[in-house]
Amino acid sequence: MVWTATPALVSAALAGVALAAKFSPSSIPRTTTGFKNTVPNKFIVEVAEPSNIPGKRSLDSRTTHEQLYDFMRKRELGFEVEKEFNSPGLFMGSVVTLQDANGVDKLHAQGIFGDGIKIGIIDTGIDFTNPFLGGAFGPGNKVIGGFDFVGDDFSKIRHLVLMPNFTHGIIGANPGNPFNISGVAFKASINAYRIFGCTGDVSDDIIIEALLRGVSDGNDILTMSLGGADGWTESSSSVVSSRIAATGKIVTIAAGNDGSKGSWYTSSPGNGINAISVASLDNTVIPLQNATVHGVAHDPITYFATFPLPINGTLPVFATSNDTTVVDDACNALPDSTPDLSGSVVVVRRGTCTFVQKLTNIAAKGGQVVLIYDNGSGFDAIDTGNFTTATLIQAADGVFLVNEFASGVPVSISFPQSGGSFDFPDSAGGLISSFTSFGPSNDFFFKPAIAAPGGNILSTFPVPLGTFAVLSGTSMATPFMAGVSALLFGVKGTAPEVGLTARTLFETTAQRVPSSHTDGDPLQTVTQQGAGLVDAFKAIHADVIVSPAELITNDTAHFQPLQKFSVKNIGTTAKSFKVSHIPAGTALTFQPGTIFPADGPVPLSSKAATVKFSETSFTVHPGQTQQITAHITAPTGLDPTTFPVFSGFIEIANAQESYQVSYLGLAGSLKDVQVVDDTDVFFGVNLPVLTDAEGNFLTNATNFTFVGDDAPGVLMRLAFGSPKLLFDLVDPNIKITTTLNKRAEDASVPVAARSVFSFPNAAKSGTFAQVRTLGSLFEADFQPRNSDVNDGTGFNQLTIPSPQFANGTMIPNGTYRILLRALKVTGDPTKEEDFESWLSPILGFEVPS
Ligand SMILES: *[C@@H]1O[C@H](CO)[C@@H](O)[C@H](O)[C@H]1NC(C)=O
Ligand SMILES: *[C@@H]1O[C@H](CO)[C@@H](O)[C@H](O)[C@H]1NC(C)=O
Ligand SMILES: *[C@@H]1O[C@H](CO)[C@@H](O)[C@H](O)[C@H]1NC(C)=O
Ligand SMILES: *[C@@H]1O[C@H](CO)[C@@H](O)[C@H](O)[C@H]1NC(C)=O
Ligand SMILES: *[C@@H]1O[C@H](CO)[C@@H](O)[C@H](O)[C@H]1NC(C)=O
Ligand SMILES: *[C@@H]1O[C@H](CO)[C@@H](O)[C@H](O)[C@H]1NC(C)=O
Ligand SMILES: *[C@@H]1O[C@H](CO)[C@@H](O)[C@H](O)[C@H]1NC(C)=O
Ligand SMILES: *[C@@H]1O[C@H](CO)[C@@H](O)[C@H](O)[C@H]1NC(C)=O
Ligand SMILES: *[C@@H]1O[C@H](CO)[C@@H](O)[C@H](O)[C@H]1NC(C)=O
Ligand SMILES: *[C@@H]1O[C@H](CO)[C@@H](O)[C@H](O)[C@H]1NC(C)=O
Ligand SMILES: *[C@@H]1O[C@H](CO)[C@@H](O)[C@H](O)[C@H]1NC(C)=O
Ligand SMILES: *[C@@H]1O[C@H](CO)[C@@H](O)[C@H](O)[C@H]1NC(C)=O
Repeated sequence: MVWTATPALVSAALAGVALAAKFSPSSIPRTTTGFKNTVPNKFIVEVAEPSNIPGKRSLDSRTTHEQLYDFMRKRELGFEVEKEFNSPGLFMGSVVTLQDANGVDKLHAQGIFGDGIKIGIIDTGIDFTNPFLGGAFGPGNKVIGGFDFVGDDFSKIRHLVLMPNFTHGIIGANPGNPFNISGVAFKASINAYRIFGCTGDVSDDIIIEALLRGVSDGNDILTMSLGGADGWTESSSSVVSSRIAATGKIVTIAAGNDGSKGSWYTSSPGNGINAISVASLDNTVIPLQNATVHGVAHDPITYFATFPLPINGTLPVFATSNDTTVVDDACNALPDSTPDLSGSVVVVRRGTCTFVQKLTNIAAKGGQVVLIYDNGSGFDAIDTGNFTTATLIQAADGVFLVNEFASGVPVSISFPQSGGSFDFPDSAGGLISSFTSFGPSNDFFFKPAIAAPGGNILSTFPVPLGTFAVLSGTSMATPFMAGVSALLFGVKGTAPEVGLTARTLFETTAQRVPSSHTDGDPLQTVTQQGAGLVDAFKAIHADVIVSPAELITNDTAHFQPLQKFSVKNIGTTAKSFKVSHIPAGTALTFQPGTIFPADGPVPLSSKAATVKFSETSFTVHPGQTQQITAHITAPTGLDPTTFPVFSGFIEIANAQESYQVSYLGLAGSLKDVQVVDDTDVFFGVNLPVLTDAEGNFLTNATNFTFVGDDAPGVLMRLAFGSPKLLFDLVDPNIKITTTLNKRAEDASVPVAARSVFSFPNAAKSGTFAQVRTLGSLFEADFQPRNSDVNDGTGFNQLTIPSPQFANGTMIPNGTYRILLRALKVTGDPTKEEDFESWLSPILGFEVPS
């Protein structure tokens, strides 16, 4: 996902929500796809720091890297070192590519390599604390690798810009330019690390490389307008971002533009626990242009363009239809009677077909200058393809022009090349941009953290693309936060303490943002606005320090109702405050009665938590600190199947000043959220499902030769993120009670299908280790949930192209089943009952010798 979204791209993404949520089986590729960010045989390996290896204090870093390579050589692993990282305290390690494992029987792709050397998979990142990873190493354990995980999108490279020298002038534009805009911190020195092309994706190791380069070059602030939806704090780049922030640098990262996909869809590396993940706020005005009407008295007509259309002179209006109610205006070829339109401004109604389709039909009659009038109340940037002199106007203006034309009035239009700029008031101005991704993270961290202007922002743009442009995206909000951070460092100095307390300061001084401009509607959920709109002045001048800024009660299974915070007076006079609770809307994160997350804008309920305080008013003298305990009780009366995420603010205020802390909790248990989609909603068959090369869904025993395309696949969707996904090969007569097949039996699935899933003498579920598997086919950690949009995020397909286990060992002829297990969020990886499981129909392996 690339986040330099123009308004046109953003509205295209939002339009996707309306699509039917049913995918065509023909959209399933024959490669493994959908699983997060994985590169074949490529691993990010973290090695321990020499100082952390007992008795080896004197070793230099070279030695720890060498230890890793020795370990791999001893095991006759063919490998190449792509990259070495050597940033003590942040990241020491290597990126290694393993040579083709085929036949090779010695691949230990994951494990603790000797003293203190740890390895992580590029997709999953490195979670040093996960007991499962620690516990899983050693003989007979799961080994990951050997498949082509690379989706088509991966070849594209993501635009990565680290602070500073950001191409957009949000941080640094100098005043005195034609638009009279200046960067937030235009005096900050600017260095750009513009490492990649302009669109596409980049792998985690490259983000890490860029982050570490940013640190070693001595930057105080790192800003990244990039990321990908992931929902977990554990990806490698998130972990490294967080560690960098923990050294006192400020790391600002875009929260993501996946707002239309609903909650639990935060992005990495912005998910880094200590990073500042930035939401976007819509500007109150959109800088647009006015056209002048001639031949009849009428106000100027505002059209959706930042720059005047490059049209000289005054052109007569021609309407493609005199009837303003025709819904498919100019969707078909214009009639033969149509005159040459090359000297006219063509006016056409929006609707039914694409803008490019209409413009192509008009161009066939010579028409190039086109005003498309909206068919409702819409007014935004539109995709006109290669037609550069076509733009959108509002419905009323279009209807006026058509009616004048139809009644024979010689109405004409000119496009002033200067003086026509108009700050169009944006009705959504001052609200969180609808495209901002919703949190929280699956491990219930507070993402995004804070909002900054990022919707309809006029800024600098690469000169060949126009020098200035209006852009929207959390990518625009992020450099704004970096600029505010530069101001903070400028005023307070760049000591680590300043960086370490920056996020708390920004959050406790932010301005709360409503969910709409309608009176009585609740404040926007903290899961989209974070602590609210950054207030740079207040943050920099605050003489009261409130800490922490984020109170997280977690889910009901791990509920922490008592939360403490402190209020410290660093000013010179005594201050008295009152403490009060200001609820935000409770986010109903799942569609009621379903296992599917609600699309954005996430519906809000006004049923809020109740919060009681140890003190409701107090006085702090200069230098003094007041401790306060808040007792947070989850809201009641909500549908538990919506997994309501409640949030709000605790205000500490007097008549002169106010501060706040933000809180977040779940009225439900994360372990109760179903992880694997077992419905037929998306593909018309109950998932997961076994597939063959033709994309058929298989319910009966099937033999595979692995010759050509004759190989099995498993099609699945994650309705919610999973910390661990395992695909194992098992004996066809395994005795195990699977959760998902069991559900399928309960549901109204055809008897034929059901019999395949039913096993005699199903054993009671025991510990994870008691499940007898023949070997691992695939394993993936910290997977994001799938979206309901068929854009590469809608489902996962595992294809097994050759009869090999994940470690490269050949699988002999025989009959098998595939056991899929997905760990529930907050589940215990040693307990079988904390996994959802599914058993495939029988597969026969009949591989010709
Ligand atoms: C430019 O902005 C400054 C500060 O907002 C304002 O004082 C000045 O009048 C503006 N100049 C023009 C030409 O709009
Ligand atoms: C900033 O970016 C420009 C354009 O990419 C480049 O020419 C310039 O050298 C960069 N400045 C620094 C200090 O890196
Ligand atoms: C632009 O058009 C709008 C709508 O007619 C009008 O209110 C505004 O005054 C115009 N501004 C300029 C600079 O022409
Ligand atoms: C408009 O007129 C100016 C000045 O005569 C000329 O430089 C420019 O090329 C013309 N633009 C178009 C689009 O015809
Ligand atoms: C306007 O046109 C779009 C695109 O065809 C269509 O989806 C929408 O329903 C139309 N709106 C109205 C109010 O007719
Ligand atoms: C725009 O022009 C390019 C190059 O002529 C062409 O490849 C592309 O298909 C065109 N796009 C549209 C939307 O017409
Ligand atoms: C639309 O109105 C104009 C002006 O009255 C007229 O010349 C034209 O023929 C009309 N078009 C149609 C399709 O009726
Ligand atoms: C919420 O609880 C889970 C389970 O104990 C834990 O893994 C997670 O880190 C907690 N989240 C936060 C933000 O403390
Ligand atoms: C599976 O086998 C049953 C019984 O032999 C048969 O009726 C059914 O058509 C088969 N299903 C498929 C999808 O081949
Ligand atoms: C699969 O192969 C085995 C052994 O050759 C054979 O007995 C069985 O009938 C085959 N099954 C199918 C569904 O073709
Ligand atoms: C590879 O995995 C299989 C299945 O788990 C196992 O039998 C075999 O010993 C493993 N090979 C190596 C070299 O670990
Ligand atoms: C596996 O089965 C195929 C098809 O029956 C046969 O041609 C091949 O020889 C068998 N392989 C081995 C190693 O037995």
